[in-house]
Amino acid sequence: MLVARNGTPVRARLAGVEGYVPERVLTNAELERIVDTTDEWIVSRTGIRERHVAADDQATSDLAVEAARRLLERTGTDAADLDAVLVATTTPDHVFPPTAPLVAGRIGARSAAAVDLNAACSGFIYGLAQSTALVECGMARNVLLIGSEVLTRYVDWTDRTTCVLFGDGAGAALVSAAPPDAVDGFLGFDLGADGDLADQLTVPAGGTRAPAHTAAPEDLCIRMNGREVYKFATRIIEESARRLLERLEIGVDEIDLMVAHQANIRILEYATERLGIPEDRVFNNIDRVGNTSSASIPIALAEARDRGRLRPGDLVLMVGFGAGLTWGAAVARYEPPAAPTPDAAGPA
Ligand code: UT7
Repeated sequence: MLVARNGTPVRARLAGVEGYVPERVLTNAELERIVDTTDEWIVSRTGIRERHVAADDQATSDLAVEAARRLLERTGTDAADLDAVLVATTTPDHVFPPTAPLVAGRIGARSAAAVDLNAACSGFIYGLAQSTALVECGMARNVLLIGSEVLTRYVDWTDRTTCVLFGDGAGAALVSAAPPDAVDGFLGFDLGADGDLADQLTVPAGGTRAPAHTAAPEDLCIRMNGREVYKFATRIIEESARRLLERLEIGVDEIDLMVAHQANIRILEYATERLGIPEDRVFNNIDRVGNTSSASIPIALAEARDRGRLRPGDLVLMVGFGAGLTWGAAVARYEPPAAPTPDAAGPA
């Protein structure tokens, strides 16, 4: 699906973004003591130095609530004003209930629709497209989109080819209706999937194909054909980004910041070089966060903003890819609305 947003009466904007990672840090040195690996291998092949791991009593909704509360506070948004809460996750708290209603209930979003979506590591981009659609067709004015994952619960700690890659975290974004004179907003999306490659990255059991109670423990863990996914990722980042930019008639040189799914620094460097986007216009934080699937783009966006790398007026390119195999690209002009101050709220 390739969509260029132009001429719609209401435009959706990225009104804020926040990230949360659990306190516990798992370093490569600790992994060296668990599996047959080395810090040198992990850093040179993936760029990852450490990742965060959820506490035993933290589930996906707990991380999502943390990110959501930070976002609501920063943007001065009342949870009662949210029309929808979308949780992009591939590691929900339960098969059902969905995770989004749990999050909506805990943050007090009483009048919000609440639903999960699963597009694996492309989930945040798919979620941005759905949030934009809800706002631009008039069904919602404020959508809270959260990518949240506790992937370490699906890691086989004896499999060195996957256990060094993943981490836990959540990132939340507010997608809101922009006023008519706003210059910012989402400009377009490119979304897709190639189900022929579905078996390259899976958790084989735990669903209806192989119920958890009949499964061998290792089949409840992430299994990946790393080389095939690597090939797919390097191809699709470039293809999807180019397709979208061409459709929007935006030159690569106009992009101020690119933030892509943090899966492997080599994938990111290769793809951005092919696209011709210089290093100083790309933000990566994989070294400290690892692969957090649907949470990785919003966590990176929030950090880029905090470090002054995402600035008001910037044209931002985001690209995700992952299990499915799915992909998604989005382009947005970023101009965060000023958060209401107590003085601006009305006469004392
Ligand atoms: O978010 C979803 C998307 N996921 C991705 O995008 C991941 C895509 N794939 C990758 O990032 C890379 O393929 C990996 C990081 C998973 C693997 O890197 P690679 O350069 O493709 O390594 P490889 O699979 O070709 O393995 C090379 C060697 C093998 O040894 P032999 O057969 O050459 O003797 C592996 O057994 O490296 C070995 N190896 C390790 N050695 C030390 C694999 N994992 C490790 C490890 N420590 N952790």
